[in-house]
Amino acid sequence: MSVKADLIQRLSSLPTVPVMANRLVHLLNDPDARPGEISRVIQYDSALTANILKAANSSFLGFTQPVTSLDEATVRLGTNWVFQIAVSSLIYSNLRQPAAGYGMSADETWRHSMAVAVMAEALRDLLHLTSIGTVFTAALLHDIGKIPMGEFVADAFPALQELVDEGNASFEEAEQAILEVDHAEIGALIARQWRFPEAIVDCIRWHHYPEKAPVITPAIDLVHVADAICLLEGLGIGRDDLHYRLCESSIERLRLNQDTTEKAVSQTMAALDAINAAFINAPAVRVGR
Ligand SMILES: [Fe+2]
Ligand SMILES: [Fe+2]
Repeated sequence: MSVKADLIQRLSSLPTVPVMANRLVHLLNDPDARPGEISRVIQYDSALTANILKAANSSFLGFTQPVTSLDEATVRLGTNWVFQIAVSSLIYSNLRQPAAGYGMSADETWRHSMAVAVMAEALRDLLHLTSIGTVFTAALLHDIGKIPMGEFVADAFPALQELVDEGNASFEEAEQAILEVDHAEIGALIARQWRFPEAIVDCIRWHHYPEKAPVITPAIDLVHVADAICLLEGLGIGRDDLHYRLCESSIERLRLNQDTTEKAVSQTMAALDAINAAFINAPAVRVGR
């Protein structure tokens, strides 16, 4: 059996993503959704609400008065941030997994995924592309294919490395040449299996090759460029990332300059501190009703 056929067979036994993650993503993309609908969905999940309160009460935000209800937290953080923390919390256990062959521990996989998601969102806002609602989730999931691919990459690593070093191939080209599939392709299949919108599936599928996408969207370019900037900033470097190929035309299409890139980097660093606090640092505050 080919690696691709074996992987596809295994995908059906992967843990599913919580239904609520899907619901929130579709809600964010629904132009007819009413304001406040995201909070109304979240309020029924107490663990999720606790994480959002932790973020709202994190010392990084500098507020002295604690918030104790989801409504107060939404006012403090804004709907977008509430959405990001909710979706990250829901996908946390699916995503915080080692990608063995890529040399990434569970922590590194998570750190890189969060960093690319926050970076893509920062770039989106700075470039005034705010109508794209999918970019955070797409960026969060962009390397999800590395998790099931990891053991196959580990077995084939010497051959992959040789092709990269001597054949001047990118790591993804080597994956395709030797394993007949790459992590972007597997990631897209996973996102489709989890019933995420096709706009998200496309970002994952083409995150290394925006030029090959049947339709090149700003969201695909954003995920690709955010991934590249995070690698330059040392936010999650796997063995494959040393051979990253930046698509220069993505930068041209986005009209991204040095100044905007620097702003996105500093915003990302600050936001990551606060978001990580939702998962690690701050104690949960009891939910008020
Ligand atoms: Fe990737
Ligand atoms: Fe990546």
